Amino acid sequence: MHNPKDKDFLNQSESDLLLNRAKEVIPGGIFGHYKYAVRKDGPKFFSKADGAYFWDVDGNEYVDLVCAWGPMILGYNNPIVDEAARKQLNLGNTVSIASPVMIELAETLVDLVSIADWSLFGKNGADSTSLAVMVSRQETGKQKILKINDGYHGSNSWMQRRNSPGIINSDSAEVISIDWNDLDGFNQAISDYGDDIACFISSPYHHPTFKNNVYPNEGYWKHIEKVCRKNNIILIVDDVRTGFRIDLKGSNNFFGFSPDLICLGKAIANGYPISALVGKDSLKESAENVYFTGTQFLNSAPMAAAKATIDELVKQDAITKMNNFGNLLKESLVKISEDFDVKMIVSGVPAMPYFRIEDEDKTLHSRWVDACLSKGLYLTDYHNHFISVAHEDEHLKKVENIAREAFEAVKL
Ligand SMILES: Cc1ncc(COP(=O)(O)O)c(C=O)c1O
Repeated sequence: MHNPKDKDFLNQSESDLLLNRAKEVIPGGIFGHYKYAVRKDGPKFFSKADGAYFWDVDGNEYVDLVCAWGPMILGYNNPIVDEAARKQLNLGNTVSIASPVMIELAETLVDLVSIADWSLFGKNGADSTSLAVMVSRQETGKQKILKINDGYHGSNSWMQRRNSPGIINSDSAEVISIDWNDLDGFNQAISDYGDDIACFISSPYHHPTFKNNVYPNEGYWKHIEKVCRKNNIILIVDDVRTGFRIDLKGSNNFFGFSPDLICLGKAIANGYPISALVGKDSLKESAENVYFTGTQFLNSAPMAAAKATIDELVKQDAITKMNNFGNLLKESLVKISEDFDVKMIVSGVPAMPYFRIEDEDKTLHSRWVDACLSKGLYLTDYHNHFISVAHEDEHLKKVENIAREAFEAVKL
């Protein structure tokens, strides 16, 4: 095991060798958003993970504040979730017919999530957001999708930016984008296209990449809800990233409004592959009529894992725990930054903090993240982080020490 204090950068020779090997047989070596997260001197491949830690293939240990980009909410290898999945796996996972655990999971979600009267299951968040759009179109007979600029809903073609490689203009021809918190822009879009808009889809607060995250203004969601109702527009909350980290009843419950559909994914099963769309009774028939399926959609071990995860989140009062840790983390990082005459802006909810160092030297933030990585703290410089129930005092102390050492290193 390498001692993070011995070197400026931890040894990554095995990771680098593997990346070269991967590039031979996998386009890009590591693909999708994971590719953007790969840092030159940072870890590229893990060897194992446990609780709030992972280890890279070179044997370096990291306190992980990225949490697999969201799914890890109870800690890696949570024994209760893993046992539930294993038990179901032993009975059968992918079988010609469904397992009753699917009903148990749907009942769990319907009991827990405030607006949920039914649930359907896919694999990734993008399955849920695409299904939500299909249900909205089926219900309203309208086509257009209203969304927020820089709002991310997955990698399906309608969700991608125009001119992205492999995307043609007609893929997003029915998508209208407005700025976050811009009610004038929203009203204008409704007056211009209201008769054609099937749905408004948005995360409950704005969490773009590379920018400070922003809460809704006072009255924002109530206005949106009212106008959507009046104009027969389905209101979709994309809770894929925020789900289970703000309010277990749905993030809308925290912000005080009532959507028609909620997309869930990421943290729902502590890393097992499953996502869900939950909705109101009024949309049940449309949800039944759209064709939504996939060979792996009925895998029952992830369903058992999701049920166990949700039960644990309730039992452990996960939101309070994650909020406490997130608030302490924010206080610490802001204070440590001030000791080095640096302004650290922390935005977003406590369980999903986005850090940004405000400095004339635009490279400082990125250099500080690299220095943290080199000392055993896994961070990203362009995306919000994720807190889990497994983050405790021990990890906070490590984060504080590393953050301080990293400032010492980059300020020299
Ligand atoms: C808000 C939001 N919606 C949808 C998605 C898509 O989820 P997935 O990558 O599981 O398809 C993401 C993924 O980051 C997301 O953050």
